[in-house]
Amino acid sequence: MKQLLIVEDDPGLQSQMRWCFSDDVEVSIAADRETALALLRRLEPQVVTLDLGLPPDPGGATQGFALLEDILRLAPQTKVVVVTGREDKENAVKAIGMGACDFYQKPLDGDILTFVVNRAFRLAELEKENRELASQSTGNNIKGIVAASPEMLAICRTVEKVAPTDVTTLITGETGTGKELLAQALHDRSHRADKPFAAINCAAIPENLLESELFGFEKGSFTGATQSKKGKIESANGGTLFLDEIGDMPMALQAKLLRFLQERMVDRVGSVKPIPVDVRVVCATHRNVQELISQGSFREDLYYRISEITLDVPALRDRDGDAIVIAQSLLKSLGKQMERPNLSFSEDAAQAISSYSWPGNVREMINKVKRAIIMADGKRITADDLVLPVEESCDTDYQLNLRQVREGAERKAIVQALTTCNYNMAQASRLLGITRPTLYNLTDKYRIETSTASSGA
Ligand SMILES: Nc1ncnc2c1ncn2[C@@H]1O[C@H](COP(=O)(O)OP(=O)(O)OP(=O)(O)O)[C@@H](O)[C@H]1O
Ligand SMILES: [Mg+2]
Repeated sequence: MKQLLIVEDDPGLQSQMRWCFSDDVEVSIAADRETALALLRRLEPQVVTLDLGLPPDPGGATQGFALLEDILRLAPQTKVVVVTGREDKENAVKAIGMGACDFYQKPLDGDILTFVVNRAFRLAELEKENRELASQSTGNNIKGIVAASPEMLAICRTVEKVAPTDVTTLITGETGTGKELLAQALHDRSHRADKPFAAINCAAIPENLLESELFGFEKGSFTGATQSKKGKIESANGGTLFLDEIGDMPMALQAKLLRFLQERMVDRVGSVKPIPVDVRVVCATHRNVQELISQGSFREDLYYRISEITLDVPALRDRDGDAIVIAQSLLKSLGKQMERPNLSFSEDAAQAISSYSWPGNVREMINKVKRAIIMADGKRITADDLVLPVEESCDTDYQLNLRQVREGAERKAIVQALTTCNYNMAQASRLLGITRPTLYNLTDKYRIETSTASSGA
């Protein structure tokens, strides 16, 4: 319903103005600033006509301007049409400058007033539609992906655009950031959705088996090959092949994979007859591929083949607002699964979730929320139930002393080294230039997890 608030102190004009509008406009009237504000709060009118000369200053415009400011501050979407006295162009211009949408000069002419007011209603309506459309397009509607941060919403929009195409996509990001979830979304939203999604973890399969896993083998091609077998690539035919942890693929296989990506033909181990395969390839890695290339452990030409599009998934701590909405959603789904529905986070728990750095990202959060669901007394999950490790803040502006700064930096360097080396302690200690026992002492001291959060999940 169209709501119009007329702010006018002259009773004669009040009733004259009221009769200018047809039945589809609900008109309310205020004679002073206070009443106007009360009606504004209660009725939320889309349009207000505002006489600038209000008591206690009916001859001036101070009350009118003050009210205009109030309205634009309290309800900035409201369209305000200021009504000025004859020849009062100066104040009209000033009011428009402050944010009024239009002005109207006395004496009253019903036709012109309705015209101006209806135009303001139309404007309000268009702006409302616009806001609704904008909020729809920034929302995320990819199943299973909970996101509120601009960073993640942007990634979801890219997924929507890229999914229907066949471009080879590389997804990078720390452990537990949702790389596999995004790979699955790329498949689900493609024309290949009803065909297989074949995933293979290149880091989890021993080097000597990976080739036959991927490419298949012919009977008799090696001891134990009593019959021929299709590889993952072939079994994904028509669908999507997801190569997880591609950064860990051995060099020899990288060459063979590159050949496949160029020719789209599979050579089974022990066969001389290439088989054509139609798959969309999605790769993921938690490693820094540029670094691997410069170390000589990843082929640059393969990198360019697999990264026609790259989705760089930010860590949870770098996504503003995601931690708490994902935690809420996990609490709901896990709570139901674990037969403890209706649990909620206490304020200190919510605060702890938002400020913790989540080095293991969503995967770590799943573990912590599960634990809290088990531990919670009553209906509330407290910060204690979540047992989030205490972290030293690295923000030097707010440091108490040098010790805190040093410990913060130390902790950060260790976490970084561990992630880079996939939690290989020997490698990480070499990278940090310390002995393994020292690294263990430090991870104890800072309560840093020494295995990937994924190893237990
Ligand atoms: N935005 C999200 N909303 C809801 N659940 C999420 C989100 N991101 C990740 N998850 C969940 O977190 C878990 C880890 O996600 P996923 O396996 O996709 O991460 P990953 O980046 O592949 O991790 P890893 O490097 O450890 O393999 C999954 O259970 C996934 O469903
Ligand atoms: Mg994964």
